[in-house]
Amino acid sequence: MDKQTILTGITTTGTPHLGNYAGAIKQAIRSSKKDDHDSFLFLADYHSLIKNKNPEEIKQSCLEVAATWIALGLDTKKTIFYRQSDIPEILELNWILSTFTAKGLMNRAHAYKSAVSDNEGNSDPDKGITMGLYSYPILMAADILMFKATHVPVGQDQVQHLEMTRDIAQRFNHKNGDIFVIPEAILEKNASVLPGLDGRKMSKSYNNFIPLFSSSDDLRRHVMKIKTDSLEPGVPKPTDCNLFEIFKAFASDDESANFKQKLEEGISWGDAKEELFQLLDSHLSEPRKEYEKLIQDPANLNQELLSGAKRARELSVPFMSEIRSSLGIGKLD
Ligand code: TRP
Repeated sequence: MDKQTILTGITTTGTPHLGNYAGAIKQAIRSSKKDDHDSFLFLADYHSLIKNKNPEEIKQSCLEVAATWIALGLDTKKTIFYRQSDIPEILELNWILSTFTAKGLMNRAHAYKSAVSDNEGNSDPDKGITMGLYSYPILMAADILMFKATHVPVGQDQVQHLEMTRDIAQRFNHKNGDIFVIPEAILEKNASVLPGLDGRKMSKSYNNFIPLFSSSDDLRRHVMKIKTDSLEPGVPKPTDCNLFEIFKAFASDDESANFKQKLEEGISWGDAKEELFQLLDSHLSEPRKEYEKLIQDPANLNQELLSGAKRARELSVPFMSEIRSSLGIGKLD
């Protein structure tokens, strides 16, 4: 089998939280250390502009996301780690692909459809919807096709975007020859969806998240806020509770079995929260130190991203000229 090329994008909105860790970061970092494939990981900062136009927040989020991944052990020698906006070829490809994309295909994108349904009852169904939101899947296709990714790990919500990427690439190849590699989605089986403080999915949009890196005290304060039922100490606790779901994402099998037993034996919620806090704190205290160091030196992080971009452009620049010439754009001889 040919060597796989795995590519992952992270939209830089908000502060990385425990849910991001369990849902994507953990697996991606583990896979970044393996030698059997090429890997690309990038900050999708142009995607974030669709949701956020606050320059300070955009910058801060980029900084936090980059520092988080490196602090948690991303191997930036093996993985090419870059910022989308440092690769101008991606935007160039975005335009080219948009000329191959059926408008009807974009009409069917989930994010767009859900924005339209939020406008129900309004005389303009497209009220407040930008072209950025509408053509979001094309930019994502450009991210993926630019680096000839063969496999893209995604959550369920992104599967449709991968199908669109394949569709767009096939249309292009049909007209212009075998230029693009047709990527496959890898649905992350090991990824878990963590409950947030209120029991709903942990998410920035619900504001129910526990940041990965805040002070130890702040982490404890958050853990103490996790919603539980009102069962008294001594009464067995349900093992499908929010605390245990979060615990499992960080614990070894033995630690999980042990915690489960304590729940069944009726540990008080207060003590159970203390155990969860201790577990999280022991896992996060080392990376937290690293994170603090990184976040205080943005110039160094910037350098790191630029050197990733340099490696990425060694591929994107020549590939872009191949793409252009397949279209008859540019050079006349
Ligand atoms: N849309 C992805 C998300 O919201 C982020 C993303 C942008 C991405 N470009 C990508 C993911 C390319 C994988 C490949 O999670």
